Amino acid sequence: MSASGTDVVLETRELAKEFKGFVAVNKVSLKVRRGQIHALIGPNGAGKTTFFNLLTKFLPPTSGTILYCGEDITSEGPAQTARRGVVRSFQISAVFPHLSVLENVRVALQRSLGTSFYFWRSEKSLNRLNDRAMQLLAEVGLEEFAKAETADLSYGRKRALELATTLALEPELMLLDEPTQGMGHEDVSRVTNLIKKLSANRTVLMVEHNMKVVSLIADTISVLQRGSVIAEGPYAEVSRNPQVVEAYMGTTDGALGGTH
Ligand SMILES: Nc1ncnc2c1ncn2[C@@H]1O[C@H](COP(=O)(O)OP(=O)(O)OP(=O)(O)O)[C@@H](O)[C@H]1O
Ligand SMILES: [Mg+2]
Repeated sequence: MSASGTDVVLETRELAKEFKGFVAVNKVSLKVRRGQIHALIGPNGAGKTTFFNLLTKFLPPTSGTILYCGEDITSEGPAQTARRGVVRSFQISAVFPHLSVLENVRVALQRSLGTSFYFWRSEKSLNRLNDRAMQLLAEVGLEEFAKAETADLSYGRKRALELATTLALEPELMLLDEPTQGMGHEDVSRVTNLIKKLSANRTVLMVEHNMKVVSLIADTISVLQRGSVIAEGPYAEVSRNPQVVEAYMGTTDGALGGTH
């Protein structure tokens, strides 16, 4: 770790958000380190999604600072921050059910390149686009489904496709809000492995309720309760913290303590 802090991709300093006097995010100071999978956990209503909304500039903070690679980006707009590579999945990357799997990735690529329609009419550029789309499908293990209609994919594979459309935006920091929500056991482990794989040359900040997933892939966990960070560290440490067990599970023999 360098003293200049270049290992920190994203940092918040006393970041706060109030809704008409209600403090949803309470002076959160958090550092996300390059190459890590950083999980944000906490009970319902703790402020996790609001925190994400502050990072993507969907909401303006009441006070505090957001730094990206050491630069203050608090007051820049959502598009500018997205262009830096701060990309949120599962919210902005809706897939079109009646397009093929490949077409969905092509749409995402075209959108991210913002190139004019006429450019894509040349066969050469269309082939390049197809090649890149196939590469992205291969990354998420959907190569063999390229021609399938998106509506026919299983739920877990749809989420994998959403990840591919997010990758089209070339994220440096991926923000995932509950990526395994609503999934069956098989899809959960497929998406967990996928996130682990995709994190190899990126940084991931994820909100995740499934403690099995968190214990398997998160390098660092921050626990949010009523808008404040109450604990931070690796799973083994955080899961033994009595305040966390109490706050998160409301019991000392909840899932946090017994994931295996
Ligand atoms: N736009 C808003 N206006 C008023 N209150 C809001 C708004 N958005 C969120 N809140 C409140 O802020 C608190 C935090 O909500 P948030 O959605 O960030 O929680 P969360 O940790 O993501 O919860 P969950 O685990 O249920 O997704 C909640 O009490 C919520 O009702
Ligand atoms: Mg939420």
